Amino acid sequence: MGKVICIGLGPGDPDLMSLRAHRLLTTAPVIAYFRKAGRLGQARRIVDGLIPAEAEEWPMEYPVTTEVPFSDPAYGAALAPFYDSWSRRLAEQARKTDVIVLCEGDPFLYGSFMHLHSRLPAGLVEVVPGIPGMAGCWTATGQPITWGDDVLTVVPATLPESELRRRAQDTDALVVMKIGRNLAKLHRALAAAGRLADAWLVENGTMPTERVRPLREVEGEIPYFAIALVHGRGRRP
Ligand SMILES: C[S@@+](CC[C@H](N)C(=O)[O-])C[C@H]1O[C@@H](n2cnc3c(N)ncnc32)[C@H](O)[C@@H]1O
Repeated sequence: MGKVICIGLGPGDPDLMSLRAHRLLTTAPVIAYFRKAGRLGQARRIVDGLIPAEAEEWPMEYPVTTEVPFSDPAYGAALAPFYDSWSRRLAEQARKTDVIVLCEGDPFLYGSFMHLHSRLPAGLVEVVPGIPGMAGCWTATGQPITWGDDVLTVVPATLPESELRRRAQDTDALVVMKIGRNLAKLHRALAAAGRLADAWLVENGTMPTERVRPLREVEGEIPYFAIALVHGRGRRP
């Protein structure tokens, strides 16, 4: 009897995965990972050259990603059976061997694995935490994110503009994930909250293509892996 074990791989640089994740990866009989159809997938890219030659690879290709808005009932209607059937298949395999599921960053922080985790029996599933993408990103800016009593707020840029503005106003330090097509909205919300001048954008944090810029200078297309940050300026001795 094996288990379905999701391993957090950290923000992108393979050197940043845990020893436990590495041990499980390098002895894995079956390795599953999510990806957009026709793409390698970021989690799989992180482990390139590290997985055993004899390991079976199971790419789990999303039936839809950004082509259908999350608010459209068609989105849930396509994804629910996808997660149902993969959780059944992984559970079946776990009766014979361990199955390792790859996850970029930390699995319990906006990770797709959560949709399999909630469908699998508790005794059959395990999660290995990883360094979240945001930690790789604030480290890339060379500045601490929180000091003393600073409050850190993490928001997805998919929130309505007024909500983004309110959260940015109410916090000391801010992390904005899932920016994608919401860059212009994020600029407006942070400007209205008086936080745009202090905001940074980190693209592909800890990867060879990492780029760090003041957010106000960024326009147009940005990569999927991008995080905006405002550092806290709290109590310092
Ligand atoms: C679906 S969430 C997955 C988060 C992941 N589980 C984690 O722990 O960071 C995807 C979002 O994470 C952010 N992200 C994760 N890793 C990143 C990195 N290395 N550089 C920049 N953004 C990253 C981006 O905002 C991206 O849109």
